[in-house]
Amino acid sequence: MKTHSLFVLSSALFLPLALRAGDIKINEADKAKLPPAATKPVDYARDIQPLLKKSCYKCHGPEKQKGKFRIDERDAALKGGEDGVSIVPGKSADSLAIHMVARLIKDEEMPPEDKGDPLTKEQIGLLRAWIDQGAKFQ
Ligand code: HEC
Repeated sequence: MKTHSLFVLSSALFLPLALRAGDIKINEADKAKLPPAATKPVDYARDIQPLLKKSCYKCHGPEKQKGKFRIDERDAALKGGEDGVSIVPGKSADSLAIHMVARLIKDEEMPPEDKGDPLTKEQIGLLRAWIDQGAKFQ
């Protein structure tokens, strides 16, 4: 009886944690609300890295990996974090990271509220083009 209650208690405690992984979903209807992808060919070093450095590295770089997500290195960035893959090369509209910077995922807006300037439509357009063009890290 005692063991049983302990089991029930621990399941109740850990179930929410287990459910959390991959919990966040893109809403299909939101794809139409994303700012359009830039049409020019993007260059990682010139167009993308400075933007990520300014807006994301503080929490997803060498020092901190919030949500177990790191965006300064290719392998880590494409692998994703706690919520799974969030950058899908070739498919920016299917990339959770884009919906997060477009502030379409409730409570998962990136950068988080009051923790950095929201990205502009132009910046989001560049990130979309970067992902659409293969999410290259060089
Ligand atoms: C001030 C800190 C901070 C900054 C800056 C920030 N983030 Fe985050 N990010 C977080 C936190 C905290 C989480 C985890 C949120 C949660 O689990 O509720 C997170 C989670 C994420 C995730 C989901 C990772 C996963 O798998 O759970 C992505 C993708 C992401 N951020 C992208 C970005 C991008 C892109 C930028 C830059 C435009 C950015 N973040 C800037 C704090 C930050």
